[in-house]
This record gives sequence, C-alpha cells and structure tokens, in this order.
Amino acid sequence: MTQIFNFSAGPAVLPKEVLAQAAAEMLDWHGSGMSVMEMSHRGPEFMSIYKAAERDLRELLAVPDNYKILFMQGGGLSQNALIPLNLLGHKPEGATIDFIHTGSWSAKSIKEAGKYAKVNTAASNTTAVPAQAEWQLTPAPGAAYLHMCTNETIDGVEYQPDFNDPRFAGRVLVADMSSHILSRVIDVAKYGVIFAGAQKNIGPAGVTIVIIRDDLLGKALPVCPSAFDFKLVADNESMYNTPPTYGIYIAGLVFQWLKQQGGVAEMEKRAKAKADLLYAALDADDFYQNRVAPANRSRMNVPFYLKDESKNEAFLAGAKARGLLQLKGHKSVGGMRASIYNAMPIEGVQALVDYLNEFAGR
Ligand SMILES: Cc1ncc(COP(=O)(O)O)c(C=O)c1O
Repeated sequence: MTQIFNFSAGPAVLPKEVLAQAAAEMLDWHGSGMSVMEMSHRGPEFMSIYKAAERDLRELLAVPDNYKILFMQGGGLSQNALIPLNLLGHKPEGATIDFIHTGSWSAKSIKEAGKYAKVNTAASNTTAVPAQAEWQLTPAPGAAYLHMCTNETIDGVEYQPDFNDPRFAGRVLVADMSSHILSRVIDVAKYGVIFAGAQKNIGPAGVTIVIIRDDLLGKALPVCPSAFDFKLVADNESMYNTPPTYGIYIAGLVFQWLKQQGGVAEMEKRAKAKADLLYAALDADDFYQNRVAPANRSRMNVPFYLKDESKNEAFLAGAKARGLLQLKGHKSVGGMRASIYNAMPIEGVQALVDYLNEFAGR
C-alpha cells in the first residue's frame, strides 16, 4: 500500500506511536478494566492522566509557576468571546482591545471582540507581520489587552516571538497559538494569555488549552458563563464541569511523545528543516508561488498557488494517487496548503517536494 502523508490543517496528523498506544489501551487502560472514555473524571485513574498531562505540558513549554494551565472545551473560536468575557470585568465601560490583524483568524477575533468592547486594529497586513514599531497601540493607560494570532493557519503568516519593544511593558499580550504551539520555543512570561485549540499540534478536536497568568484570573464580567470562567476552571483543576477526558488523554500521550523526541527545541529544529525544504522547492522557479514575506513564512502551514491555476485539479489528483492527502487550500483563499505539524515526518515533506518537482517537470 502507498504510504500516506496527511497535510490537513486540522484536525491533523497525529504521531503514529500515539495512535498505536491509544489503540492498545482502548479497551483496558493500565489494567483498570475500563476504557479512558468510561472513567469518572474525578476518579484516581483519570486524575493521574490529567495531572501527568498538565505536568508534561508545563515542562515542555517551561510554563512559570505563576501561570495556570486550563484544559477547556469550546475550541479556538470560543476563546474570542471567552477572553473578553474573562478579562474585561475590572475595566470601565467602553474599554478598548488592541488587535494586530494578520489574516483570517485574527479577523474573526476582531469581529467577535467587537461585541464586548471597542476594538482598535493597531496594524494590519495579511502577507507579513507589521513591524512592531509601527503598531498604533491605544495610548496610556492603554487597551485592556493586545490580541494577536501568532500563526495564521490559512494565510501562512507566523510571528517571530520577540516582543522586546519597551512599549509592551505592562501590557497584557494575548496570543492565539492554535496552529504552532509546541513547534517553537517561546517565553511564556511575555504573555498574559496563550490559547490553542488542540486539533493541530496537540490532539483531537474538543480540547482547548488556555495558559493564563495568575493575576489575570478573577476579572470576569458578571455575564461570563460559570463553566467558562477561567478562575472557576482554574480553582477546580479544569474539573468545574466534565472536561473532554478522552481528548486530554490523547493530548497527554502526545506530550509524552514530544518529550521522548527531545521536546520543543527539537521540534523547532525539525520544523525549520521541513519548512526550508518545502519553501526551497516552491521558490525554485515561478511554477509555484507563496505570497508571504520570507521572514514571516509559517513553518507549520504553507499555502501556495500554481501559476497556472487550471492545473489545480490535476495537481490534487496526482498528489492523492501518491498518498499525499488534504493539500487543497482553504476555500476562502483557494490554491493549495501543506500543513506540516510536529507529527509530519521529514519523509512526508520530501515526498511532497519530489511530487512538486515532478509535476513542475523539473
Ligand atoms: C489560528 C486558529 N485559531 C482559531 C481556530 C478555530 O479553532 P476551532 O475550530 O477549534 O474553534 C483555528 C482553526 O483552525 C485556527 O487555526
């Protein structure tokens, strides 16, 4: 059988070893006689799974002690509402939120936040991250927080996480890292809140990770639903209501896999190697195009266009025949997109590069 490489943007490829372990443990987890899906979330078996997942994620991202990690439901999009609902409680009426607009996901965040606060789009560009010195931030005392999507999954624009501009001192940075969390080393202490849906680099859809600095807890608006109040969730170790238990279990297996592979620094090295290989093939001549400024090209999501778009269907059919799946670009932007998350081996990227060269007649 042809070897399959899955380039889906999410839900996306998971490590084979993780899927094999989950299959082996499906009917009887560690001699408990139960599947993880059948366990009480408060029982000792699941609590041990939960605690290990929390501890391993904290270790992988070097999350400081004054941050809580929440395992929530609702997906990445729900956070566009939950973050204003959780952070605006102590702000006067008419608070402003600053946004950096770099693509489809930050655009969605901006639209949703407008229901709860005034919105200031401090900079906008969907093919490059605007230079930090040019961001038109709300003047002192500043906005409630500054929101950005540090990897735009559809547009393929990724930040270099270097928030060293002195203007960021005292500002609360909120980052949607859904599609590149755990793929590069970050300094968590630079952020007030980091959030990520799981279905790219973490595990199955249905788990949403929120990493929040302690002093930002307890600032929810009175209308914030209790099940989504970050402080209640944190005080109850993500068990205020039933968390997505099976998803947390798979996420925990992915965290163990990441540690065995050498952790986030190793993932960053591999991501760079994979992205360099793919972009070099796209740049070899003008048969393919990627439209993102080279310094901000995503290492996780690589959108590209055939110069002759009448060949799109033939390209996708040929890819499928070679086991290269889910390369069609997002419907809003067209073209192609190769998502090359942590679980994509370099062999998959090499197979794609070989096909790109073959299709271009090189
Ligand atoms: C960067 C980013 N943010 C948010 C979302 C929305 O996530 P969800 O569908 O889990 O709500 C996605 C989904 O692909 C995403 O890529």
